[in-house]
Amino acid sequence: MTVITNIEDLRVLAQKRVPRMFYDYADSGSWTEGSYRANEADFQKIKLRQRVAVNMENRSTRTTLVGQSAAMPLAIAPTGLTGMQHADGEILAARAARKFGIPFTLSTMSICSIEDVAQHAGEGFWFQLYVMKDRAFIERLIDRAKAANCGALVLTLDLQIIGQRHKDLKNGLTAPPRLTLPNIINIASKPRWALGMLGTKRRQFGNIVGHVQGVTDMANLGAWTSQQFDPSLNWGDVEWIKKRWGGKLILKGIQDVEDARLAVQTGADALIVSNHGGRQLDGAQSSIEALPAIVEAVGGQIEVHMDGGVRSGQDVLKARALGARGCYIGRAMLYGLGAMGEEGVSKALEIIHKELDLTMAFCGHTNIESVDKSILLPGSYPTA
Ligand code: GLV
Repeated sequence: MTVITNIEDLRVLAQKRVPRMFYDYADSGSWTEGSYRANEADFQKIKLRQRVAVNMENRSTRTTLVGQSAAMPLAIAPTGLTGMQHADGEILAARAARKFGIPFTLSTMSICSIEDVAQHAGEGFWFQLYVMKDRAFIERLIDRAKAANCGALVLTLDLQIIGQRHKDLKNGLTAPPRLTLPNIINIASKPRWALGMLGTKRRQFGNIVGHVQGVTDMANLGAWTSQQFDPSLNWGDVEWIKKRWGGKLILKGIQDVEDARLAVQTGADALIVSNHGGRQLDGAQSSIEALPAIVEAVGGQIEVHMDGGVRSGQDVLKARALGARGCYIGRAMLYGLGAMGEEGVSKALEIIHKELDLTMAFCGHTNIESVDKSILLPGSYPTA
């Protein structure tokens, strides 16, 4: 077996081991996938300044995110159907995050339930909320996250409606997968995955099935979302959610400076610059390109985080230099999970941490807290 040394190695292995419909679900963007690709490509354009003969001993990547300690400026992003990439996926990823000392965010659309994951997650257990039409269900979900001691609520604002992902339609994505002939043939070639799934009871949306009347399984993501998700979500709703929750609130899915200002006005603790991994508005700017203007508009009033295209420690360092207090990894975590379960997620975190630590040192810094724009080559990075 090849030695795993970077996130791309994990992606290649995940592609071999995860049934096509779930691998494709994770590894795709909407429509032309232009914004999905731009997220990664725009990081590559930014150049770092190497410094030499600087004492590089005693380095630290430790920081805080919404006031909570983190071993590096990184958290696990909420990703739907994580428990379909690998049996009990959310539990395994939460355990790896806890061991590493970074926050793990559980998606509303997870397979393992909040209560299940809470038993394995550490202090940095965050919950991501999608607002559905059934508001009584949402209130119960917020209360369940409170009861599970979640340290922050990540409210997603960019998925009232869903962007079309061609592969999901072509693959007939459902959870659990329908046992059609092509699916059976594909799953038969993924014995590790199938064995894991046979050994768990967690094969449906754990936060939803049994908690909302009439919801059994997901037949076609697009149709399902348009039935359940509330297209009327607005800033007024953010207020009641904030009140009901009462804890740290992070608003996810901000792309525009006007929305960033509105996010600040809500009194949230942080916002996440995000285009949903290029899965929603195709044609949107990449997250790293959108970041500087939003950092300027927010002016330090709340924390600015970002996700989208983060595949390395170099990416984390560049985002931090441009004013993001922290980044999130979605796909980089899913590749690790699909490749090797909990061990694979731990591997992904180790890889990114090592890249971050060494690259920070090459740029002449020993403490992540002192990193700023001056590590970037002028003219190579996006500005406000
Ligand atoms: C859900 O968050 C998705 O992007 O599919």
